Amino acid sequence: MLNLIIADTSLETIPDNLYRHPSLRKLRHSGKKPSDILLDRSFHHFAMVSTGLENHHKRGRPDILHIALINALATPLYRNNMMKVFIHTVNNNVICVGDNVRIPKSYIRFEGLMINLLKTKKIISDEGRLLLELRSQTNFKRLIKEIVKSDIVVGLSTTGVYRKLESIAIDLSSQNNPCVVIGGFPNGYFSDSVDSCFDKKYSISSVGLESQVVVSRLVYEYEKNVLA
Ligand SMILES: C[S@@+](CC[C@H](N)C(=O)[O-])C[C@H]1O[C@@H](n2cnc3c(N)ncnc32)[C@H](O)[C@@H]1O
Repeated sequence: MLNLIIADTSLETIPDNLYRHPSLRKLRHSGKKPSDILLDRSFHHFAMVSTGLENHHKRGRPDILHIALINALATPLYRNNMMKVFIHTVNNNVICVGDNVRIPKSYIRFEGLMINLLKTKKIISDEGRLLLELRSQTNFKRLIKEIVKSDIVVGLSTTGVYRKLESIAIDLSSQNNPCVVIGGFPNGYFSDSVDSCFDKKYSISSVGLESQVVVSRLVYEYEKNVLA
């Protein structure tokens, strides 16, 4: 079973101090509360920069998670229940993705689903299956030690040692319960608390790639070793 963690993901509701920023007056007048709005750089860039939001270059991109998840959950590996998917967010929430989950292809519906999840902590299907579960204040180390309990944690990053993805996938598939970590943020690098949990850190290309490309390539290479 491969464990895939999308880490330091830019998924959060708008922080209170940002909500009060003068540039977001229209938003406040719309009647929406901060808990009803995902932080999104496309709309909140000026407020993020001018309030000096910590690590703002890594935040406000929930669309990255949407595209990466669509790719991960459509793979034969996941559809055959041979991959578990976890999301770790910039502010240490963890989302456990159940088996056979399909998330909306429409971004607007995905956004609504995430806001609902952040409020209610669970998304349950009509038949009573747990699809998504939010465990708040679960830092990355606890996710690895208490939930994933993997044999090895491999981080993929441009700051890692170069190695062919094919060879990384062969190694991962020789373990019972390996874990691979891909960033869910647009710029910058893994936080120290995530990076320090890696047993190995590899770069798979001389250029920076988008998260969904790395997810798709990794899963495909891994599948070659475990699926007929
Ligand atoms: C948009 S990148 C984040 C930007 C960051 N500068 C970086 O390269 O780590 C999203 C994620 O894709 C993965 N990634 C991108 N390029 C990679 C590369 N050349 N080698 C390994 N992983 C890569 C990493 O997990 C990264 O966190």
